[in-house]
Amino acid sequence: MTTAAPTAGRFPLGRPARLAVLASGRGSNLQALLTAFPPGHELASVVLVVSNKAGAQALERARAAGVAAHHVAWPDRATFEAALSELLREAEVDLVCLAGFMRLLSPAFTAAWAGRLLNVHPSLLPAFPGLDAHGQALRAGVAETGCTVHMVDEGVDTGPVVLQRRVKVVEGDDAASLAARVLAAEHVAYPEAVRLVLRGEWDGGRA
Ligand code: GRF
Repeated sequence: MTTAAPTAGRFPLGRPARLAVLASGRGSNLQALLTAFPPGHELASVVLVVSNKAGAQALERARAAGVAAHHVAWPDRATFEAALSELLREAEVDLVCLAGFMRLLSPAFTAAWAGRLLNVHPSLLPAFPGLDAHGQALRAGVAETGCTVHMVDEGVDTGPVVLQRRVKVVEGDDAASLAARVLAAEHVAYPEAVRLVLRGEWDGGRA
């Protein structure tokens, strides 16, 4: 039995998609999405950025790009998700992109957004999920690692893969040098994965 892709019938939309990005910190992946999907772009525009951290550089990047930027406090997950859901509804968001968002969302939230919720992770999943992916890769002694853009399900870094890019581990790499090269790959992979999904070209991760 074949299972329909979680995006089946949803994309393409036939109009520009409205993207939200959730980020907790630096926001370099957010920047890649802001650059790829500016206001007025024919495929999609980032229309909303939300951070659980008031001082996140990601919020400054959004404001500099003229995009609505909100700090939403996380006293607990339910409070955060209620406020987030309201913002997503008001902004009529079609697709949510997690980009360095350092909190776990509830199964109810991930189910409500199934097929419309992406994340980027700095390893070739299913290898090295969770925290310190680069340290895990170096300790495992792998010759290559990379990044994965995947749909988010109720697990940690477990949802169906949309796109991966490979990065070689080189002699003398430490976690910082490896992270920098993988990050450059993330900045290419994330917009590419969003394009695949929005054009209805992603097969649901079964290829
Ligand atoms: C990226 O490496 C991402 O894969 C991981 O956290 C980092 C966030 O970086 N989840 P930035 O905030 O996008 O610059």
